[in-house]
Amino acid sequence: MRENINRVVLIGTGAVGCSYAYAMLNQGIAEELVLVDVNEAKAEGEAMDLNHGIPFAPSPTKIWDGSYADCKDADLVVITAGLPQKPGETRLDLVEKNTKIFKQIVRGVMDSGFDGIFLVATNPVDILTYVTWKESGLPKERVIGSGTTLDTARFRYMLSEYFDVDARNVHAYIIGEHGDTELPVWSHASIGVRKLEKFLEDPDYKQDELDNIFVNVRDAAYHIINRKGSTYYGIGMSLARVTKAILSNENCILTVSAYLEGEYGQQDVYIGVPAIINRSGIREIMELELNEEEQIKFEHSVKVLKETMAPVL
Ligand code: 2OP
Repeated sequence: MRENINRVVLIGTGAVGCSYAYAMLNQGIAEELVLVDVNEAKAEGEAMDLNHGIPFAPSPTKIWDGSYADCKDADLVVITAGLPQKPGETRLDLVEKNTKIFKQIVRGVMDSGFDGIFLVATNPVDILTYVTWKESGLPKERVIGSGTTLDTARFRYMLSEYFDVDARNVHAYIIGEHGDTELPVWSHASIGVRKLEKFLEDPDYKQDELDNIFVNVRDAAYHIINRKGSTYYGIGMSLARVTKAILSNENCILTVSAYLEGEYGQQDVYIGVPAIINRSGIREIMELELNEEEQIKFEHSVKVLKETMAPVL
C-alpha cells in the first residue's frame, strides 16, 4: 500500500538539485525523496549528508540515492540535471546540449513506468519543459516548468523593498520566457488591495525607478553568476514551492511554464504564465488581460522561444 506516501524523485544533484532537496527536507514537503545523478557517488554522499539533518527537520523524510526504477512509484519527478550557464552565456545558449541530455533522461524515467507529474528546472526551462512533454507523451497538465516563478519572487522581493511592504502582500507577476525576453505585468500589479498605479500618484514613487527594478529582476541571474558563479537557493526554494502546491493540492497561483493552446492568443509553446496548481498538475491557466504593450512583449517572447526551439526538436 502506497496510499498517502508522496514520493519525489530528483534527477540531478548539482547545486540547484541539492538546494531543492535541502528546502524539501527543511519544510517537510514529501515523505520520500530519491536522489538520482549520473555521478552515483555524489548522489549517495548528498543523501547521507541530508539524512544527518533529519532529527532537526519538521517531519521525517525518507531520503536515499536511487535510480530511474524509483520513478515507477513517484508522484513527481523533478529535473535539475544538465549544464548550467557560465558567465557571459544566456540561458538559450544551453539549448542544444541540454536537449540531448533531456531526451535521454525522460526516456529513462518513462521506461520505469512513471505516470506522475514532471517538474523541470534546467535551462532554457521553457524549451526543456516542451521537450519533456513531447518525449514523455504525458498530458500537458502533468508537465510543468519552473517558468518565471523565481523571476516573480525576485520581482515581489524587490518591490517589497521599494514600497517597504511584506513581499507576501506584493501581487505582481513576471511572465514570458524565463530569460532575457520576460516582462512585468504592471497593468495588474498591486500592493495588498491597492493598485500599483495609485502609488504612483505619490511623488515618492516613480515609474523609472520601477522600470529599473524590473531590469534588475530580469538580469538578476547574470548579476549573481558574475559574483558567485551560479544561482541555486532561489530556484531551489521556487521548486519546493511548486512541489508543495502539487502534493498538498493547494490550488495556488504560480507563474509556471505551461503549455499554451490558444491562451494569450498563442499555440504550441511552453512559457511562464500564472496558473492554478494542484494535485493534478496545472488545473487551469489564468489569462490576464494584457495591455497592448504587454501583449506585444509577450508575443515577442513566444517568438524567440519558438525560433530557438525549432532547430533542436
Ligand atoms: C536563475 O534565474 C540561472 O535561471 C537561473 O537564477
